[in-house]
Amino acid sequence: MTDALLEVRNLAVRYGDLIGIADVSLTVPAGKVVALLGSNGAGKTTTLNAIAGLVPPAGGSVTWMGQAIGGKPAYAIVGGGLALAPEGWRLFVQQTVEQNLRLGATVLADKKRVPALLERVFSLFPRLAERRRQRAGTLSGGERQMLATGRALMSDPKLLMLDEPSLGLAPAVVESLYETLGQLRRDGLTLLLAEQAVELALEVADHAYVLQTGRTVLEGPAAQLADDRDVQRIYLGLETTAS
Ligand SMILES: Nc1ncnc2c1ncn2[C@@H]1O[C@H](COP(=O)(O)OP(=O)(O)O)[C@@H](O)[C@H]1O
Ligand SMILES: [Mg+2]
Repeated sequence: MTDALLEVRNLAVRYGDLIGIADVSLTVPAGKVVALLGSNGAGKTTTLNAIAGLVPPAGGSVTWMGQAIGGKPAYAIVGGGLALAPEGWRLFVQQTVEQNLRLGATVLADKKRVPALLERVFSLFPRLAERRRQRAGTLSGGERQMLATGRALMSDPKLLMLDEPSLGLAPAVVESLYETLGQLRRDGLTLLLAEQAVELALEVADHAYVLQTGRTVLEGPAAQLADDRDVQRIYLGLETTAS
């Protein structure tokens, strides 16, 4: 028996003749925050997209709550409680904030739950409430990330995957976004967090995996990886300042 919500084993994805990821394995236990670290091009987005059913796996397995979901369509995976806030947000820029959020609830079987879910997103992100009738294309970067996160939450997931939520945002905006992620976690949501911002991710994560050229090369408790400067230098290409 395991309390794993999500199990990924030896996952591989190809883009034609090119390798997206070669061999990725990870486990996300219920109620935990797991970080997926790696420099640009390591395969973080490909891994999350393959789990979400947006790109087909070429090998390996994805198991969600005990069931094989590798190769299932994206809507079925979201409907099962596994949502992705994608890199680059992929919002409908001509639609309003509220319309974008409602689209996130398309997979819900019980539409009567939409108003309560909308209220939850607006209380987590008051800026979105103020801007509910504003077109998504006119939002700032931070607000777009809030909207992408909020839209994913509208499917009422058990596990939320976030693809580089800090990318391109000002430090104060990132801090507030991470505070909200902390709140979601305290409310019982399980998170799989892809980040290049290693220090930040290791602060909130329980456990972390490091990807390098499409393979998981290292894993461990977040606190342990955060203390290991060699790990950061060798696998993540970070210049750590000597103290
Ligand atoms: N649509 C695509 N077509 C071809 N190659 C791709 C595509 N998307 C990603 N790749 C390649 O897959 C590898 C992993 O990329 P990606 O998953 O985006 O990494 P990360 O998110 O960690 O930056 C890279 O070598 C990248 O060039
Ligand atoms: Mg990426």
